[in-house]
Amino acid sequence: MTSPMDVLLSRASTDRLKDPAPAGAQLEQILATALRAPDHGRLQPWRYVIVQGAARAILAEKVVASTLRVAPQTPQFNLDKRRQRMATMPMTIVLGMHLRPEHKIPLWEQEMSVGAGAMNILNALYAEGFGGIWVSGPITEDPVLAAEFGFEAPHRLAGFLFVGTPDAPLPAPSRPDSAGFMAMWDGTPAVFAQDRNNAQ
Ligand SMILES: Cc1cc2nc3c(=O)[nH]c(=O)nc-3n(C[C@H](O)[C@H](O)[C@H](O)COP(=O)(O)O)c2cc1C
Repeated sequence: MTSPMDVLLSRASTDRLKDPAPAGAQLEQILATALRAPDHGRLQPWRYVIVQGAARAILAEKVVASTLRVAPQTPQFNLDKRRQRMATMPMTIVLGMHLRPEHKIPLWEQEMSVGAGAMNILNALYAEGFGGIWVSGPITEDPVLAAEFGFEAPHRLAGFLFVGTPDAPLPAPSRPDSAGFMAMWDGTPAVFAQDRNNAQ
């Protein structure tokens, strides 16, 4: 049996996805893992819009229209590619952020909670034998598109999860040495090996 640590260490993103996507009780359970994300103030900012079947063609047209709003010069080839991708993914989960800008919990903390929820979904998908990838782009900032999914400002999008079954085994992901990203604090500002490497 794969241990939870193996799942966390070996998960990788992929957009090479075929049917099936999770359904029914299995999908509900995967989404339930997102609702276990840390959530300061219990504001429950996570929202998920599931797009499948015939709705994918509508999603594709809305995404193309949004792309033209935010980047009117986008070449036709790119628009066609994007339309095709959106219309054929087995499932897309639109990540919504139900935000409360007036609340004493800062917005960034609310947004981080949505990010943590999305990460739980990616891990849960992988643990259950599915695959996925989180994608975004400038359309994620388009308030018109967000409203079309039900997220009127101040609510926003956090991107899209493409979901399905990987069409080939995922290669083991390369992982940087974790030592480069940690430091033992001695009272002076931490210096990370990773940043020394990047500075060269
Ligand atoms: C908020 C967010 C937005 C992202 N947007 C995109 C995107 O638009 N296109 C893309 O190829 N990858 C995007 N990524 C990166 C992929 O989701 C993924 O992390 C990356 O391909 C590395 O794969 P890995 O998860 O296997 O390390 C995004 C990641 C995050 C966290």
